[in-house]
Amino acid sequence: MKVVVTAGPTREAIDPVRFISNYSTGEMGYRIAEEAQRRGNEVVLISGPTSLKRPKGLKLIEVESALQMYAAVKGEARDADCVIASAAVSDYRPVRYSPNKIRSKRARLALSLKQNPDILAQLGKRKAHRVLVGFALESGSGVVRRARRKLKEKNLDIIVANRVSKRRGPEAGYDAPFGRGPTDVFVIDKKGGVAQFEKIYKEELAGILLDRITEMMQ
Ligand code: CTP
Repeated sequence: MKVVVTAGPTREAIDPVRFISNYSTGEMGYRIAEEAQRRGNEVVLISGPTSLKRPKGLKLIEVESALQMYAAVKGEARDADCVIASAAVSDYRPVRYSPNKIRSKRARLALSLKQNPDILAQLGKRKAHRVLVGFALESGSGVVRRARRKLKEKNLDIIVANRVSKRRGPEAGYDAPFGRGPTDVFVIDKKGGVAQFEKIYKEELAGILLDRITEMMQ
């Protein structure tokens, strides 16, 4: 199979020295890409900025912004058998990029944002025979219900739902689901099946997802 994986955050530039982003580390996507490669697949990893080691023996495309990620995914997804979208794509980008550094003299500064394309939803619209796997990061209650809705809306085969840890915040450091630690997830398929995994490491989750995908393709 040709497997395309998106990973990491995107950065949306405000000016030459500032950007909007999120806490994604890329861990999930890198572990999936490595496992897919170990199983003998052709793997393309499209990654936003991370501090992870470059995996060897697979095609790595490094991007910064959501628009760059979208362009790379469009190119690679055409002949892919499976796309796994684990990237935390920034939903918005600044309307205007300031080519000069924004100065700090104003007491208030409003930043106007516009929506980025939903890469996964676009793939879902022209799905052909590809298997599409997405992630959902939810806070509060109704995690499974909301993830199911996303699976339907984006025309996915599988969605992995995480809940944001309550401790997440500027003082909390890296908490699940971000980074290397174990995380609690629901793996939901398009037939309605839900499997819950508690304190699972991303290496193991990568294996479970690839088993499921392989089953679906048979
Ligand atoms: N995704 C994407 N392109 C975007 C936004 C999200 O490809 N512009 C993908 C992510 O990689 C993930 C899935 O869509 O696999 C879910 O993204 P998420 O942000 O959780 O859901 P949204 O549909 O954006 O809903 P919301 O943020 O409003 O909860």
